[in-house]
Amino acid sequence: MESSLRHRSLPSQQRYQGVFNASHRAFLRSIGLTDSELARPLGCIVVSWSEAGPCNFHTLELVRHVRGGMEAAGVTGLAVPTIVVNDNISMGTEGMRYSLVSREVIADTIEAQVSAHAFDGFVGIGGCDKTQPGIMMAMVRLNMPSVFVYGGSAEPGYLGDRKLTIEDIYEGMGAYIKGKITEEMLYEIERRAHPTVGTCAGLFTANTMASISEALGLALLGSSTPVATSSRRAQYCYSSGKALGQLIENGIRARDIVTYDALYNATVLLMATAGSTNGILHLLAIAHEAGVNFTLQDIDELSRRVPYIVSMKPAGEYVMADLDAVGGVPMVLRKLMERGYLRGEALTVTGKTLSQSLKEYRHIEVPHEHIVRDPSRPFRPTGGIRVLWGNLAPEGAVLKVAATGLMRFEGRARVFNDEDSAFEAVKKNEVTEGEVMVIRYVGPKGAPGMPEMLRVTSAIVGAGLGDSVAMVTDGRFSGATRGMMVGHVSPEAAVGGPIAALQDGDRVLIDSDAGRLDVLLDDSELRRRLEDWKPMPPRVRAGLLAKYAALVQSASKGAVTSPGPL
Ligand code: FES
Repeated sequence: MESSLRHRSLPSQQRYQGVFNASHRAFLRSIGLTDSELARPLGCIVVSWSEAGPCNFHTLELVRHVRGGMEAAGVTGLAVPTIVVNDNISMGTEGMRYSLVSREVIADTIEAQVSAHAFDGFVGIGGCDKTQPGIMMAMVRLNMPSVFVYGGSAEPGYLGDRKLTIEDIYEGMGAYIKGKITEEMLYEIERRAHPTVGTCAGLFTANTMASISEALGLALLGSSTPVATSSRRAQYCYSSGKALGQLIENGIRARDIVTYDALYNATVLLMATAGSTNGILHLLAIAHEAGVNFTLQDIDELSRRVPYIVSMKPAGEYVMADLDAVGGVPMVLRKLMERGYLRGEALTVTGKTLSQSLKEYRHIEVPHEHIVRDPSRPFRPTGGIRVLWGNLAPEGAVLKVAATGLMRFEGRARVFNDEDSAFEAVKKNEVTEGEVMVIRYVGPKGAPGMPEMLRVTSAIVGAGLGDSVAMVTDGRFSGATRGMMVGHVSPEAAVGGPIAALQDGDRVLIDSDAGRLDVLLDDSELRRRLEDWKPMPPRVRAGLLAKYAALVQSASKGAVTSPGPL
């Protein structure tokens, strides 16, 4: 393999071969590379690593397994870092505004390091919510041989036979506010809910994006579900390193894999699993970076006809480890493929199509109807997430219908211009049944950074108001959010979207069957209010958040900051 690779016109050959590249080679010799290692293709191992939380705490340890796989494939592997913002630690604070921003920073830092050092391809290791889409965005932006491998989720916690995840702490705080549980019980939940390293255990955003990496074809089948502490994770890292060698050998690049069909397949999986609403934002961003015309309208169309067949937290009862035990994402994909929901000709990192890869995958056959059903017997006949349109969201909004028992909600608007005042209102028991909490000016430009409203939504659910209070926001939701919660309302308030015109007491209608989000006002009244609207002064005038606010596009386009593919 080595000799055929050596003669290819690879970026590393241009940078590190020949007499006039002696100065470049000297630096790689300085770190210990030999002549034979210098003659091979150069693979990068991009690792999102941080000790500031459990999600990527252990990922540095995975590097050596990826490197081993690369070496076995005749590729020299060098690791570079990228950043991590742990969503759960920033949640409900000013720090949360950096979360979505970090996705862009991650893509940018990968582009800078991989391009500047003339790597021939890379394996990206990601854990927490934004590291994964950031890595996948860089793969298609750079359009080089690339493989994604997940750091793995945490094991679930237990209190008696009750299975716990981080969501239980947030809802526990809401229950404590209402006097439903004691401080001691909340402390026990806190101690047990996230017992190991790895990402949040339910099908929240991190596990959603990991599952999507398999459906997109950018990760090996079966690689997303083993928990972070599983020895199978090391094996998948090794195989991912090896797969990169094959991709370099065969000249297969990320945009050969991430086509319209791949994005279609990923959306089918997102709908079938009722994954995080953030999945929509990230798929739109990946499509943008790949230069593929895949839009919110495409997602809407799939949400109306793909059945919801996988029951995982927060919509169901199970966690990533449970899905792994019954066959993981390949089992879900096989069921969807057999019923004609997927486009089997899409290419994957194995160099084979999704259809071929699923046929060759060693599936396990164990009882699984409690967590994964056949599409002919779904938990719901339509997708777990709905796209809504209406006079409040001319460019779209999203609702995770699988996470609420309600299909329609009409209520009085109660308007907040920031998250803190909304949370204080719930904390003081001021929010009452029949209200639609509107949290605006928290969109991509307005916040800036489109933070998640999990602290407020969990407090509502924990306070027992999940079926009687709804929320509408131009911000985002955590994958752990439950209830009648509509997010990503576009255009956002900060650019004069209709949500900016809402007033306390307005009647707001959320109708998931009809796919509508409307304020029950005359068009002329809405128009008059919008004509009188004055923008709020920017909340941030310097630093990264101000730079982001100046560049970021609408959530309906993925809240991206780059102009598109290189
Ligand atoms: Fe990192 Fe949940 S906070 S995955």
